[in-house]
Amino acid sequence: MLVVDDQVEAEAGRLFRALVSVDCVPGVTWDYDACRRIAPLTLEINRLKRERGAVILAHSYVEPEIIYGVADFKGDSYYLSQQARKASAQVIVFAGVVFMAETAKILSPDATVVVPDRNSGCSLADSMTGEQLRKLKALYPDAAVVCYINSTADVKAESDVCVTSGNVYDIVQKLPERRILFVPDRLMAENIRTELKRRGSDKEIVSSDGTCIVHDAFDAPQVALARARYPGLKVVAHPECPPDVAAAADFVGSTGAMMKYVKETRAPYFLMLTECGLVGRLQVEAPEKHFIGGCRLCPYMKLNSLEKVRDALAAPRPDQIITLDPGVSRRARRSLERMFELAAAD
Ligand code: 13P
Ligand code: SF4
Repeated sequence: MLVVDDQVEAEAGRLFRALVSVDCVPGVTWDYDACRRIAPLTLEINRLKRERGAVILAHSYVEPEIIYGVADFKGDSYYLSQQARKASAQVIVFAGVVFMAETAKILSPDATVVVPDRNSGCSLADSMTGEQLRKLKALYPDAAVVCYINSTADVKAESDVCVTSGNVYDIVQKLPERRILFVPDRLMAENIRTELKRRGSDKEIVSSDGTCIVHDAFDAPQVALARARYPGLKVVAHPECPPDVAAAADFVGSTGAMMKYVKETRAPYFLMLTECGLVGRLQVEAPEKHFIGGCRLCPYMKLNSLEKVRDALAAPRPDQIITLDPGVSRRARRSLERMFELAAAD
């Protein structure tokens, strides 16, 4: 009994040291007692992981107790898809949203890929079906079809190449076609137009009408107000933000690039125009930085919890297991592999 108690206290201490500086969601703080309460669960999940030969991939937007308590790999969509592609584990638990887990299944088809909550959708991925893309493609037969990774497996299967927020500008610029059909993010398409114009590229970008409900809600007046209140402020935005917000920011990039920018930049304050989970990660990994709030919560990412991770690992329900049509998966893989090739090429 004493041994068990010692283990729980040691785990609580480990969690407390990691989480003590996290204060990104109103009403949620990590004192020692809070860490002590979840310690038995993180111990159980880490034991189940070993027994089942599993790895846990966690997107930076999920709760910090998942990221720092049980995840093996944490990061942005590109990094996590690289990890899924080289994973040799029998089981992959994807703490993120369903399109990310589908991508892991496409890249690691022999693994059992599970999601903590099947309802963890994404307003972008859910904005377009493969059938809708087929109809749109027919209108632009000369266009290269580029899908953002925030899309369904069906949409990936209909695309020539997939991109993430970390490589979108470089990959679109490298494509030989002048006309690009970019789906499903209308705002990112506008940001691509602006960035490629700045680079002197004359590509025509056609897009569909999806947006991210989290990033679409930021606005330029919010940025102006923050700058007036906090001299020296650095504004950091995700490319899913509206173009006037991106134009008002000091830095625009993937969540991985945003973290790197904040860590490497000296400024009295930062405004993070993204999901609050990223602020939580920075509070852990760069506790000397000051964030002025303003981040937003993704209701889909926030469906993840330690309890659901445990259940998906211990005995996944059918709805937690990702299954894909083999033909769709094979074709979707081609667009992802083309992304890896183009991202690696100079
Ligand atoms: P990243 O690939 O930049 O992490 O973006 C994922 C996402 O869903 C942003 O809303
Ligand atoms: Fe989708 Fe937006 Fe949530 Fe990212 S933050 S998962 S793009 S809804």
